Amino acid sequence: MKRKLEDIRREAISELNAAADTQSVEGVRIKYLGKKGALTAVLKQMGTLSDEERPVMGQLANEVREALTAALAKRQSELEAELLEARLASETLDVTIPGRRPPLGHKHPMTIALDELKDIFIGMGFAIADGPEIELASYNFTKLNTAEGHPAREWGDTFYMTEDSSVLLRTQTSPMQIRVMEEQTPPIRIIAPGRVYRKDEVDATHSPMFHQVEGLVVDKGITMADLKGTLNQFVEQLYGKGTKTRFRPHHFPFTEPSCEVDVLCHGCGGAGCRICKDEGWIELLGAGMVHPKVLSGCGIDTEVYSGFAFGIGVERMAMRRFDITDLRLIFENDMRFLAQF
Ligand code: PHE
Repeated sequence: MKRKLEDIRREAISELNAAADTQSVEGVRIKYLGKKGALTAVLKQMGTLSDEERPVMGQLANEVREALTAALAKRQSELEAELLEARLASETLDVTIPGRRPPLGHKHPMTIALDELKDIFIGMGFAIADGPEIELASYNFTKLNTAEGHPAREWGDTFYMTEDSSVLLRTQTSPMQIRVMEEQTPPIRIIAPGRVYRKDEVDATHSPMFHQVEGLVVDKGITMADLKGTLNQFVEQLYGKGTKTRFRPHHFPFTEPSCEVDVLCHGCGGAGCRICKDEGWIELLGAGMVHPKVLSGCGIDTEVYSGFAFGIGVERMAMRRFDITDLRLIFENDMRFLAQF
């Protein structure tokens, strides 16, 4: 029995030293100290010993058990320390390593163009007005002197939202003239940039959604000269000093007189080329003196006040600014295209 106890001690200790994880340590404990363990089995045989042998063996068995228990606890804590060490090593965070920069985007070319436009007008003392893209037909048409039956109100051109044609996606930013005049009293000097919608097929120069910047000035003694001065100033700031403009008579229901403003083609200087479709001039905006009917409809005394308005197409401007030849590129959101600006 003595040899057996010595064997148990030796074998258990060597198995413990070989144990590579806490589970193996537990395995050793069960194997020797468990209910069916080797040491327990020996202890059960104590009763078969003689009276002289029993205390000697009992003492030895106790020693072995104590040695085993101590060795188990030691190995267990060694392994736990190793585990902690390994975790600390693998989870080390070096806070001094420079971070990885997330890719930073930039403004969309349309936003750049719009911002530049706004800056120019803000510099001339204009305020910015904002209004709905889903608009009442009365604001988009009727109050702009475009009565029912007018061809501009055709279903084929306009995205109506209701069967009775009373609500629509605004086809122009001009309803903002009405909204501002109904809410403010002159002097008025605003621009209203935003999206407009028309039932156009998509091609290189058309899109069912595009951007306009509306302008409106109402004050005492405003004349066509103010309109020309303001718009020439705008064009020079946009395209450079000395840029030539042309004011061409036109018709809009809500301005009288009305005009369209062209700039001399930057491609050919007026001789005619592909960019200006051999015109020599590029159309930039529509404008005119606010029609007295429109003014008085908004409660403005036409004996005292007059005004001018204009509507700029922003896409065309952006296309020239960035040398873009196909309008579709602006809205397709292809990163290879957008990343160039
Ligand atoms: N709303 C007109 C258009 O979309 C442009 C315009 C605005 C004309 C203001 C005159 C005055 O074509």
